[in-house]
Amino acid sequence: MYEFHKVNIKDIQQETNDAVIWTLDIPNQYKSTFIWQAGQHLTFKKIIKGEEIRRSYSIFNPTSDEDIKVLIKKVDEGQFSVPAQFDYKIGQSVEVMAPTGHFTIAPKDNKTYALFAAGSGITPILGMIYEVMNNSTSHINLYYGNPTVESTLLKTQLSDLKNQHPSRLSISYFLSQEPIDVELYAGRIDKSKVTKIFNNELKQLDIGGYYLCGPGGMIDEVTDVLTANGVVKDHIHSEQFLSEGQVMIDKKKTATVDSGVIVTIDGVTSRYAIKQGDEKSLLDAALDAKIKMPYSCKAGVCATCRCKLVEGKVNMLNNYSLEEWELEKGYILSCQSIPKTKNITIDYDA
Ligand code: FES
Repeated sequence: MYEFHKVNIKDIQQETNDAVIWTLDIPNQYKSTFIWQAGQHLTFKKIIKGEEIRRSYSIFNPTSDEDIKVLIKKVDEGQFSVPAQFDYKIGQSVEVMAPTGHFTIAPKDNKTYALFAAGSGITPILGMIYEVMNNSTSHINLYYGNPTVESTLLKTQLSDLKNQHPSRLSISYFLSQEPIDVELYAGRIDKSKVTKIFNNELKQLDIGGYYLCGPGGMIDEVTDVLTANGVVKDHIHSEQFLSEGQVMIDKKKTATVDSGVIVTIDGVTSRYAIKQGDEKSLLDAALDAKIKMPYSCKAGVCATCRCKLVEGKVNMLNNYSLEEWELEKGYILSCQSIPKTKNITIDYDA
């Protein structure tokens, strides 16, 4: 499951000045491996001057579609996103891992789902809109922020969906760098706007869940308003959007004990060690021991490295992706976990 596969780029479309959509041609032998759930992402691998880099991009098209589409937004000096705009050609192959990610939705009927997105955060959210529209009778209220109309990503797909489902899909666009008549929609999605939205639009609805994707600040502000108004955390699902090259607070990762680690992945069990004083996470030490482990951001955001802690204790430095229920069940992010006990067992298949 965590192997990389070579697939060809079937089509490249310019979405905005600084974003392209890649359509991937998944060969028949990999089709069953590349079945995805709405909200999941693909991890791409590229070797630059002998060094491997990995980047994740969310799949945004309907799960019933044959071809997977991802949107790649350019980030200044992005090692993957800049060449993705200019250098890659139709027919060229790329190395990509099967879809991963747990920011997914399983819609029930006769509910309303409240979705908040900013910028590229729309990509998994759009996948969820397709899922809800195609596989339930529920409604969606989407609140979507961008700097300008021109920079608004995937607006054609959103307006097509709105035309197909006028009574089930409500979309509110927010613009932060362009004048807009209605005061509520002028500026970023922040606490005061979410408070008004909650009181005027959401409070009285039977909400099936809140799904948030965007920068950390937006997620924190929306979450704060929802929880202050009594929404239980289990009802709030989020995925932080991390721009290519952006790093989170890098806390010191020093192991405090000698630790022996047993890892099971794709049915294969391996062992490795971390020594007291090593500045290595469980993931770093496994990679040093030449054990193939899934990862992408190494920043606690994408959850590609999520596994279950079966034995032992760890100190998890950052967590921007696992939800309460996952922590309670013992899931950890290996890229952020430092051993606290002599014996550690982790399982990627659990
Ligand atoms: S690799 Fe992204 S959270 Fe660990």
